[in-house]
Amino acid sequence: MKKYIVAPMLAFVLFGTQCVLAQKGNMSHEKSMVKRAIAVVTPTKGNSVRGTVSFEAGDKGLRVIANLTGLTPGHHGFHVHEFGDISSEDGSSAGGHFNPTGMPHSMPMSDKRHAGDMGNIDADAEGNVHLDYIDPVMKLNGPNSIIGHAVIIHSKEDDFKTQPTGNAGPRVAQGVIGIAK
Ligand code: CU
Ligand code: ZN
Repeated sequence: MKKYIVAPMLAFVLFGTQCVLAQKGNMSHEKSMVKRAIAVVTPTKGNSVRGTVSFEAGDKGLRVIANLTGLTPGHHGFHVHEFGDISSEDGSSAGGHFNPTGMPHSMPMSDKRHAGDMGNIDADAEGNVHLDYIDPVMKLNGPNSIIGHAVIIHSKEDDFKTQPTGNAGPRVAQGVIGIAK
């Protein structure tokens, strides 16, 4: 007679264990949300621009910190491009601007822009850049995630008008955006 009690109890215990395991799975999923990313930027052929661009998720948006050397003084177009493929010498294999939402090219503070439109960096007289700003559009998770795409730095200034490139000229440096600790 006891079999009829033990079997349902065993089933109940097994089911309960599965629920606990499922819950643990969800928790580890939350932990896998990306919070930091970094691109190590290296020069394209004939150029000497190098440095790092890091990205950190915060309440107000994505904090972007760029430290770069080897630029000509002045403004240079600065974007996330579609492909994390930096195998070409001129940066062309990174494709066009990262644009997952089908928007026009614009400036970083516009709400209708390519996700990758970070505007311009401003190099000082020595050719160095120290940029620190909060980007309202780019994300490290979900459809606008920039992970696996590429940072591109251009020789000329982004005019925020010319479609879809900003007419920023040749690509002087490139780096793939990877997950950071
Ligand atoms: Cu670009
Ligand atoms: Zn753009």
